[in-house]
Amino acid sequence: MDKAGRYRDLGPELDALFEGEPDVVANLANCAAALKEAIPAASWVGFYRKVKEELVLGPFQGRAACIRIAFGSGVCGTAAATRETQLVEDVHAFPGHIACDSVSNSEIVVPLIRDGELIGVLDIDSPKLSRFTEEDQAGCVRLGEILSKVL
Ligand code: SME
Repeated sequence: MDKAGRYRDLGPELDALFEGEPDVVANLANCAAALKEAIPAASWVGFYRKVKEELVLGPFQGRAACIRIAFGSGVCGTAAATRETQLVEDVHAFPGHIACDSVSNSEIVVPLIRDGELIGVLDIDSPKLSRFTEEDQAGCVRLGEILSKVL
């Protein structure tokens, strides 16, 4: 299946996982697991939530990661501060990149926004350089819209 089709299928899959379940931690944990399995060459998939004025690690799949990230810091903090998706072909070339996992070479971070408020970010890392494309960005932004409703 092509990338667009894979992301399209993930929408209803997430909706089904969240159906009738209001617990945010449970929903994000299942979502991280579903995305890790569905996105080829993803080494880390997870969430940082906005808590007061910083990002705090949420449910994820992958290696243990840094817990708190300041707004504006690294790829996640930049996505949070600018509210713009960060598509990073080579994390080593990104000023201030936070190297939680040494295997990561490329990354996409999507801000999660509900009712105009930033609530967190979805972060996906890959050991493959330039793993994420505009197609991934379109798919992840759409998933972010679904996710924002359950956060
Ligand atoms: N690389 C991220 C930090 C989070 S980890 O990738 C899980 C960053 O620069 O914000």
